[in-house]
Amino acid sequence: MNSNQNQSVSHVSKEISESLVEMTEIVLPQHTNAIGSVFGGTVMSWVDIAAATCALRHCRCQVVTASIDALHFLAPVHLGWIVSIKASVNFTSRTSCEVGVKVTAENPLTGDRYHTASAYLTMVGVDKEGKPIPIPQIKLMTDLERRRNADASARRLARLTLKDDLAKRRRADVNGV
Ligand SMILES: CC(C)(COP(=O)(O)OP(=O)(O)OC[C@H]1O[C@@H](n2cnc3c(N)ncnc32)[C@H](O)[C@@H]1OP(=O)(O)O)[C@@H](O)C(=O)NCCC(=O)NCCS
Repeated sequence: MNSNQNQSVSHVSKEISESLVEMTEIVLPQHTNAIGSVFGGTVMSWVDIAAATCALRHCRCQVVTASIDALHFLAPVHLGWIVSIKASVNFTSRTSCEVGVKVTAENPLTGDRYHTASAYLTMVGVDKEGKPIPIPQIKLMTDLERRRNADASARRLARLTLKDDLAKRRRADVNGV
């Protein structure tokens, strides 16, 4: 049997609202660095989990993270603060989708909120052998979704160019060039 036939994925296009994710965390001592703010790796893990959950809801098949675009930490998040991680599918192509993730931190005593980080992840739908398989496409319903989709399309081009450049450099390294 072809590996792409061992997984049945619906090809009916789906609205972005069907797969939205919002996770909430509280920064506990085990999440912090030596100066009492959140450890970057913890935020990266939350971002990846939110994106994977979103992609799972959209694709309804196993997914893997193919890439994470640059992740900038814009403001520190302190012990005891509330962290909200929101994820939504911005763009779909044949087997992959871009998931946008926004991280917001809230001071629990004042209610002030700070945009802490944003990231774009490419998640790929895979079968049981880890081979890419077609995923459902998204239906764009709002102007905001259309704008995000257009922006994501431009990012995809840049990302795939970078991926090709990295592959060329790896081949050159292997060949001792
Ligand atoms: C991601 C992975 C499944 C791609 O497999 P592949 O054999 O290279 O397949 P393809 O070249 O056909 O790519 C499949 C899709 O992924 C996209 N893709 C592949 N590498 C990518 C990258 N680095 N960044 C963005 N998209 C990527 C392709 O554009 C394609 O999308 P499309 O079908 O929507 O156009 C494979 O590289 C893999 O398993 N990587 C490890 C993933 C993993 O373990 N992640 C967990 C963290 S370590």
